[in-house]
Amino acid sequence: LAKVLICDPVETEMLSLGDRIDVDYKPSITREELLEQVPSYDALIIRSRTKVDKEVLDRGTRLKLVARPGTGLDNVDLPYAKSKGITVVNSPESLVEAVAEHVTLLMLALSRRLVAADRTTKEGRWEKNSLTGAELRGKVLGIVGLGRIGRRIAEIAKSLGMSILIYDVIEIPPDVISALGVRVVTLDELFRSSDYVTLHVPLTPDTRHMVGGSRLADMKRGAYLINTSRGGVVDEDMLAAALSEGRLAGAALDVFEKEPPAGAILSAPNTILTPHIGGQTQEAQTNAITVIGEKVRAFFGVG
Ligand code: 3PG
Repeated sequence: LAKVLICDPVETEMLSLGDRIDVDYKPSITREELLEQVPSYDALIIRSRTKVDKEVLDRGTRLKLVARPGTGLDNVDLPYAKSKGITVVNSPESLVEAVAEHVTLLMLALSRRLVAADRTTKEGRWEKNSLTGAELRGKVLGIVGLGRIGRRIAEIAKSLGMSILIYDVIEIPPDVISALGVRVVTLDELFRSSDYVTLHVPLTPDTRHMVGGSRLADMKRGAYLINTSRGGVVDEDMLAAALSEGRLAGAALDVFEKEPPAGAILSAPNTILTPHIGGQTQEAQTNAITVIGEKVRAFFGVG
């Protein structure tokens, strides 16, 4: 029997691995417990909470597979896993719609000052005039990273009447550019010209603090920043300073350098902070664990 350890919360009802795979579900396992128990398992199923670094991979002497329902793999030491012959799989299609809708929600909520509107109304205030918002139609959206999620956001934003600027390190095929009706620009131009900037890049040594002091200083006065990709891509202290000085109109973050977050960003003005729930819809989670279940069964050659 292959033994699988699930280390993070997943929709277990949707996971049918058959009777030739033995599953242990420990969604809040600590690192110490994982290091102790990993030698007994052939596969791990993880989300972003569990770090699968060299130490975990070395202790996992039986380990053959790391499966990630979802997208980000920055918490897995991929080159080291490869060097040890351990396969890593994810389900990058599963969360696309959920994240794209979350970004749309955050853009609208920032622009219409939804959080302040809700808070002041419940406090018995009627701040109709001071809560004048802005419309997305006619505004410029800069999308950094035109992967699956970036493309879906471009489609939605287009339907809302926004103009779209794109930057990606990978060359984008001309047919994709014309089908989406977007303009490809340099990263400098994207930051300088956008009313809204949304980030859709993985966390790598190249993207760490990619949005720091100088990028933020380049942004239009009164622009908004949205990050639902990975914490660490944005320098949170620099962002908090730009918000406090009123250079940016607002920011929405779903991901943080440290989760849960700490520091100046928690008290910066005009922010919406959400607890890494971009992909946390019923549909996305069900799809992710179903796809991962199929990949685990296929890997172990069971029906
Ligand atoms: C992802 O990379 O799949 C998303 O950021 C969701 O991460 P999570 O599964 O840890 O919520």
